[in-house]
Amino acid sequence: MFKSLETCGAEYGRLRSLEIGVTSRCNFRCAYCGAYDLLERQVLSPADVVRVIEALPDLERVKLSGGEVLLEFDLCEQIIGYCSSRGILTQVNSNGTLLDEEKFERLEAAGLGVLHVSLNHVETAAHAAFYRVSEKMFPRIVRAVERSVSSSSIDTVVETVLFDETEATLPEVHRFAAGLGVRRHEIQMEIPGVHQGYTGTLGQDRLCEAVARLVEARDPRCTLYVSCLSAHLPPGGAHWSRLAPLFRDPGVVRADCVEGKAQLHLHSNGDVLICELGCPEVIGNVFEEDLLTLYRTSARLRDFVRGKHEEGTHSCFRHCDRPGERRGASRGPAFLPVPRVRP
Ligand SMILES: C[S@@+](CC[C@H](N)C(=O)[O-])C[C@H]1O[C@@H](n2cnc3c(N)ncnc32)[C@H](O)[C@@H]1O
Ligand code: SF4
Repeated sequence: MFKSLETCGAEYGRLRSLEIGVTSRCNFRCAYCGAYDLLERQVLSPADVVRVIEALPDLERVKLSGGEVLLEFDLCEQIIGYCSSRGILTQVNSNGTLLDEEKFERLEAAGLGVLHVSLNHVETAAHAAFYRVSEKMFPRIVRAVERSVSSSSIDTVVETVLFDETEATLPEVHRFAAGLGVRRHEIQMEIPGVHQGYTGTLGQDRLCEAVARLVEARDPRCTLYVSCLSAHLPPGGAHWSRLAPLFRDPGVVRADCVEGKAQLHLHSNGDVLICELGCPEVIGNVFEEDLLTLYRTSARLRDFVRGKHEEGTHSCFRHCDRPGERRGASRGPAFLPVPRVRP
């Protein structure tokens, strides 16, 4: 089920989820995103992915992310088909603009579990202006969400990033999604990232207020999942006291961080990252070392797990110089290293 790992108190010791960045190519250029245009020199083949997954005895979930994942549709379809045959839940994270009926039918046939679509606006003009994309895009996203909601096998999730663009409109986006038939709405705290130069964050008070206002305005038919709160609000602080009662409502779910603890990110060049956006530290490469061995033996990962999950002292944003400030101009694309060994 969606976010079951994030709500079950998953412990370090079993690698239960893998996020696979199948590509960093994207048809969008979202200013806040650090996951596109990484210019990888090597793309995992379906056989590479199967080899990695086969060696993970505790794997319960595979999330396909990117870049725009569906630019690698055939690869996604093959991974989903393989995972379904093994009883592993699959999730596709997509901007929703590349889907049509044929692709939906292929995803359903492959056994896709969750389609997770980004939605930060409620109408065409604002969407097109913010993303600097054609006005054709927003209606495509809406159609994709509606088609997904009508699927008997796919669980639809809409995700909204909480950042300055959505701070005031979050309740409106939520009601819009609920009106489309969406019953799971993920609110993702913004993650500052150095890659494209975006390090703006709202600050703790504004994040806390925005979440509280949204909960008050929640459509009772739609469950809210709030992700990455602990990246911004240290556990035990005053903001937690304010928010904790809100999570007593079964329709408002706090999705705990499982990055590094029960989930790792596998990039398409074989690099293994602790968390793609929050802690993009590379702990190894699957073309050089077995993923399970990396998970069990990486000293960097162990440090992260201790600091982030056990002692609560790790800042997810240590890769940023000054979180809370926007740098302005983009630094342009980043290059990922070429794996040193290719078996
Ligand atoms: C990197 S995208 C890849 C999948 C797809 N292209 C999409 O937009 O949904 C995966 C998710 O990360 C979110 N995301 C991107 N940049 C982020 C940031 N700086 N902070 C928080 N979430 C972010 C996106 O909104 C999206 O829901
Ligand atoms: S958030 Fe998704 S759609 Fe936007 S640039 Fe990143 S990968 Fe592309």
